[in-house]
Amino acid sequence: MSSAAAIEAVIAQVCEGIAADGRAVVADFLPTPLVAALATEAGRRAVAGEFSSAGIGHGESRVERSDIRGDRILWLDEHALSSPECALWAALEALRAALNRVTFLGLFSFEGHYALYPPGAFYRRHRDAFLDDDARVLSCVLYLNEAWAVTDGGALRLHLSATESRDVLPLGGTFACFLAERYEHEVMPATRNRLSIAGWFKRRGGASSW
Ligand code: OGA
Ligand code: MN
Repeated sequence: MSSAAAIEAVIAQVCEGIAADGRAVVADFLPTPLVAALATEAGRRAVAGEFSSAGIGHGESRVERSDIRGDRILWLDEHALSSPECALWAALEALRAALNRVTFLGLFSFEGHYALYPPGAFYRRHRDAFLDDDARVLSCVLYLNEAWAVTDGGALRLHLSATESRDVLPLGGTFACFLAERYEHEVMPATRNRLSIAGWFKRRGGASSW
């Protein structure tokens, strides 16, 4: 399959999942060399000290709480994308357009960051929509880790209901997305570094932006 046909196929899979139950997990969202290039880039920039501690909340209510969330992050800058980041952006733009054709989500823009969870770090159960701002519609995570095994830990645990959950392994190329307001989720601690790009498709405006 050509890479254009491959991306079309995974986009169709994501659209189907989102339309059916507001969530989707697909393997090989991007070609393996591109996932490796994103991982290399993130590793280089982490070593260069460009990552900083993630916070919870935003604006004036933002706080750093390693007992809730222990990752270090680096925001993607839409105006200064490297070549692998450009390719990722193009795939996300194609996904956004496809989702807007088959759902009524009205996705308008994307924001995202690299996230590095050192061994033992976690992100406690939460929802991604801010209490005072409903701009985040669809949460997305692309994993960048080579050869991840169940015994490495670090699953994304999606809570489907009060009693049912689903674990997603953060294996390189796997892409998970879900409605930000619907699904509580958490990141389980891992025994090795866990690298990803987490991001959100947003609606235009949002409650707190005028
Ligand atoms: C987040 C998040 C999930 C993951 O960054 O809000 O829930 O699997 N990430 O990294
Ligand atoms: Mn989250």
